[in-house]
Amino acid sequence: MDSLLISGGRALHGRVRISGAKNAALPLACASVLSAQPLRLTNLPDLRDVVTLLDLLAQMGVTIDRSAGGEVTLDGARITRPFADYEMVKTMRASILVLGPLLARCGHARVSLPGGCAIGQRPVDLHIKGLAAMGAQIEVNHGYIEARAERLRGARIVMDLVTVTGTENLMMAAALADGLTVLENAAREPEVCDLAVCLNAMGAKVQGAGTDVITIEGVPALHGAVHRIMPDRIETGTFLAATAATGGEVTLEGADPHSLDAVIDKLREAGAQIEASADTLTVSASGRPRPVNFRTAPYPAFPTDMQAQLMTLDCIADGTAVITETIFENRFMHALELRRLGAQIELSGNTAVVRGVERLQGARVMATDLRASASLVIAGLIAEGETLIDRIYHLDRGYDSIERKLGALGADVRRVRSG
Ligand code: UD1
Repeated sequence: MDSLLISGGRALHGRVRISGAKNAALPLACASVLSAQPLRLTNLPDLRDVVTLLDLLAQMGVTIDRSAGGEVTLDGARITRPFADYEMVKTMRASILVLGPLLARCGHARVSLPGGCAIGQRPVDLHIKGLAAMGAQIEVNHGYIEARAERLRGARIVMDLVTVTGTENLMMAAALADGLTVLENAAREPEVCDLAVCLNAMGAKVQGAGTDVITIEGVPALHGAVHRIMPDRIETGTFLAATAATGGEVTLEGADPHSLDAVIDKLREAGAQIEASADTLTVSASGRPRPVNFRTAPYPAFPTDMQAQLMTLDCIADGTAVITETIFENRFMHALELRRLGAQIELSGNTAVVRGVERLQGARVMATDLRASASLVIAGLIAEGETLIDRIYHLDRGYDSIERKLGALGADVRRVRSG
């Protein structure tokens, strides 16, 4: 199994290109199921989760032509097998995003329930409830969602809570439904907007993405399109946080500064200098950061996917910070690993109190989920001595070439095989 060996204590300097967004690429690839004509996506990130999803779509009959340079053409002319097996869904919860498109296009779908995951229960009841409101007959048998609908009907759906993939699933299903669908309390995440732009390029009629009311007027069929995947705001935020922690000066190219307002505000509060232009961000920092309190919440508030990385910054801050996680019930596992590096963190329910220490010390730690891994990488970059991070397959799910990108910025990061 691969591990990451980091020799800490070097400031980051230089330029790095941000990849396409994982959380946009996954729903966008699923949108190919909605059309009998090819969908070409550019700026595709090179990630394990993307490979998993493309494999899943191929099993369904989508023809995949992936070329070097981040392009993929997905041809959904013949969907032969509208199923998503447990073996696939258990490795990547976002596979649930095929449910809406399969049902809308094929009239039936059989998709495994995802089950639990490390960061919390993460049910998919709202995906199911929304499709049922659109007229689908849904049963859950032997761990599988079995859904049928000759043609989905538009409906007014008030989502009980804000769900990103739930909004995306229903938006895709509604694109081919009969009549108007109104999604209220919809997720406002930029990835939802990116999907809406692509669906509209395919001939859908989606309005209001980016607000909490999205309306979708169903059309009989969608056509092919070419779409460029938006930049990854979480990768961007991770590099910003890493530089704020190590010190130095880094320019991020191909980024979307507007999608990161809440994160940038907090990093400035911590003492980092951040300059934004249309598609670049330059961050510089020196000395110990100031402690920052924050609370995760749906977009545009502070993203849960950046909580772990900012916690690492607070670990070496000059004072005490309070972090509240409101999205997932078990998303502090990195705190236990950070403690192994000398961090002083107390957990109580969904709150973490972090007392900053002057420096962390390198140690062997274990990645527990995707963003937890990123927080440990940042911790390794600032710790004294060597840090060995095990189970970095979590990192490979969502970070494109992270050791190469960090290496180009002057970090000493190596992938090693460990027992
Ligand atoms: C997406 C992101 C993930 C991010 C999360 C929150 C993708 C592929 N993944 O995950 O990186 O951390 O948003 O920003 O885009 N919930 C229910 N019932 C449902 C659906 C969700 O109770 O049917 C709950 C979840 O357990 C969680 C909350 O709603 O507590 C938000 O989850 P959701 O937005 O759905 O997360 P994902 O879409 O899975």
